[in-house]
Amino acid sequence: MKLLILFLIFLISQTFEITNSLTINCFYGTKTIKVLGSVYSCHTSKISTSSGIEVTNVIGTHLSGKNNNDVTAVFIESNYTLPFVPRNFSKFFPNIKAFSINYAAIETLFGDEINEFSQLEYIDFWQIKLKTISSKLFEKTPKIIFVYFGGSLIERVGYDLFTPLNVTQLQYVSFDHNRCINRWIDDGNTTAIISLINELREKCPFDDEFFE
Ligand SMILES: *[C@@H]1O[C@H](CO)[C@@H](O)[C@H](O)[C@H]1NC(C)=O
Ligand SMILES: *[C@@H]1O[C@H](CO)[C@@H](O)[C@H](O)[C@H]1NC(C)=O
Ligand SMILES: *[C@@H]1O[C@H](CO)[C@@H](O)[C@H](O)[C@H]1NC(C)=O
Ligand SMILES: *[C@@H]1O[C@H](CO)[C@@H](O)[C@H](O)[C@H]1NC(C)=O
Repeated sequence: MKLLILFLIFLISQTFEITNSLTINCFYGTKTIKVLGSVYSCHTSKISTSSGIEVTNVIGTHLSGKNNNDVTAVFIESNYTLPFVPRNFSKFFPNIKAFSINYAAIETLFGDEINEFSQLEYIDFWQIKLKTISSKLFEKTPKIIFVYFGGSLIERVGYDLFTPLNVTQLQYVSFDHNRCINRWIDDGNTTAIISLINELREKCPFDDEFFE
């Protein structure tokens, strides 16, 4: 009996593997955010953690005269259950500049999570139970000027996280209320941002070789 149940569970999990799909239900609207100002965005709150990690379908009704190409921001709100960063949003929204996930359970950012957003300027991952950030996270997103990693459990941040970015362009950097650091710079003061980056290197040291 137990074996039969295990076999059935196996079959079901295989089926899900094959039909791997993730539908995002967007509430479209215009929102004003720091640094970027007004953005036309997809806001979504219910993402099933049992379906695929790659977005395969986007539903929802655009404001009149708007379409997927007008969407420059994606805001995801979970309920502390979402354990991954959904991928392939850019297949539907090719012009994303701002990407936000709040209230998730994403313990580790391995480094390739936002590679698809080459024009990204704004990242806001607030309260996602994050502990570790790879040095590689911003390697494919050199235009970032707004970085928000507040309210998580951060202990380790890759030494070279900020290396791909132009520090003089950064307007906002926050690592407030984490385990190894509680600091934010909200006025684009380059000297202060460099000092924050040095504090990260000192108090949240992490060498990406641990991943390899
Ligand atoms: C959290 O959200 C997911 C996805 O919408 C849902 O399946 C789950 O039941 C929610 N959990 C709680 C505790 O509300
Ligand atoms: C997601 O994007 C990757 C990279 O472009 C692609 O290989 C993959 O097939 C996409 N997945 C889906 C479900 O479209
Ligand atoms: C960084 O940005 C400044 C302007 O804020 C610019 O003068 C400089 O050329 C940029 N550096 C690089 C390496 O792009
Ligand atoms: C920028 O930050 C540095 C270091 O915190 C500080 O000494 C300096 O006064 C700040 N400059 C301005 C213009 O606020």
